Amino acid sequence: MTQIQSLPGFRDFLPDDCARRNYVFGKWREVARRYGFVEWDGPVLEPTELYTKKSGPEIVAQLFNFTDKGEREVALRPELTPTLARVVAAHDREFKKPLKWFSIPQCFRYEKQQRGRLREHFQFNADIIGEASLDADVESIALCIDLLRAFGFGSSDVVVRINDRAAWVKFLTNGGLDNEQIVEFLHVIDKIDRRGIVETRKALEPFGVEWYDVQAMLDNSAYPEDFSPKLNTVLQRLDERGFADFVKRDFSLVRGLAYYTGVVFEAFDRGGKLRALAGGGRYDNLIHQLSDGAVSLPAIGFAMGDVVLGELINEIPAAKTQMETTIASKQDLDIYIVIAKEERRADALVQVQSLRDADYRVDYPLSPAKVGKQFQTAEQLGARVAILFGDEWPEVKIKHMSSGEQMLVPPETIALRLSEIFDPSS
Ligand code: HAM
Repeated sequence: MTQIQSLPGFRDFLPDDCARRNYVFGKWREVARRYGFVEWDGPVLEPTELYTKKSGPEIVAQLFNFTDKGEREVALRPELTPTLARVVAAHDREFKKPLKWFSIPQCFRYEKQQRGRLREHFQFNADIIGEASLDADVESIALCIDLLRAFGFGSSDVVVRINDRAAWVKFLTNGGLDNEQIVEFLHVIDKIDRRGIVETRKALEPFGVEWYDVQAMLDNSAYPEDFSPKLNTVLQRLDERGFADFVKRDFSLVRGLAYYTGVVFEAFDRGGKLRALAGGGRYDNLIHQLSDGAVSLPAIGFAMGDVVLGELINEIPAAKTQMETTIASKQDLDIYIVIAKEERRADALVQVQSLRDADYRVDYPLSPAKVGKQFQTAEQLGARVAILFGDEWPEVKIKHMSSGEQMLVPPETIALRLSEIFDPSS
């Protein structure tokens, strides 16, 4: 019989993987709260229509969708933004604006598995809803940078590329393109890194825009100050917040999702070896469009994926060390109870319970084992202290695992002795 394997692009999270995942989620939550964002979530399964309406052809082609037993067309969420737009429109009157909401959904995209791209991933989303001011754009990009900094990355490790889609819209409207053509044109520009200049130029021919002008946009020589004064303001405010080294203006960045209307940004590793770490932008029409005009709210936000982030953490030594140290300090056991004499098991368990009640992380052997084996387990679990229940009863032996130092104490003084070891200042 062949063993059943997991599906391609889906991960198992063994304890070490879960520890790394918790570390990443912990940092995401910590920094989001520092910025005043609150957590929310939506359903994993949505009506397929939510995505076919506005997300753009790439995401629709990647949908994990099916017809359910009630004949409904449904899809696993490939992203959270359409759900957010739906939820915000449905609860518009209940919340004062602007909303600053974050979430950590698992998302599903049926794409070819490759480095940095799987069929499921977790994504930290942070969105500001109901605020049109450019300060919201700045806040969103600043949060993205501060998240990266929290993982131990500096400006020599990561860069956030920023553009204003409106610059292209103005440029292309001047060139006589209508809205639909603009979306298609920008879709071609979005693929420029993968396709290269020659192919891009060919793909753009049918739009009838002078290649010379397009190139001037791409290499910034047409300097589109006239096309996007907003971008300059955003960059200047980021500079004032000390983030100048982390950001770069880049007119070739337009983002694949169709709903963006203004500032767009994407975070990459400086080496340029990996896929995008995060991406987002302003989407001022999506809530209006998805609610059929019932609710209109400007919005800006971004998402950071766990897959590429994990790859970059492994590549940057400072980030990796920080992760490993944090995980070790969270996982290690405080105390291992060694039961050297089975007659003492009941006494030992009374201690286990009271130490756990006192918030220590405590473990002990569930079945009889040789004392040497038990000490080995204590070491493997990273226990700082072992307490031995055996021949010395009514005293127990407290052993400091790293120094090997031991002392015999009556059980009633265990708590005091431990507080001296674990909290020497008190
Ligand atoms: P996105 O650029 O499609 O944006 O995805 C955001 C991030 O999620 C990417 O930069 C990448 O790190 C990660 N990601 C996406 N697809 C995959 C995949 N197949 N495997 C691994 N990681 C992946 C959005 O999803 C927008 N909804 C973000 C947003 C929020 N815009 C406004 N608010």
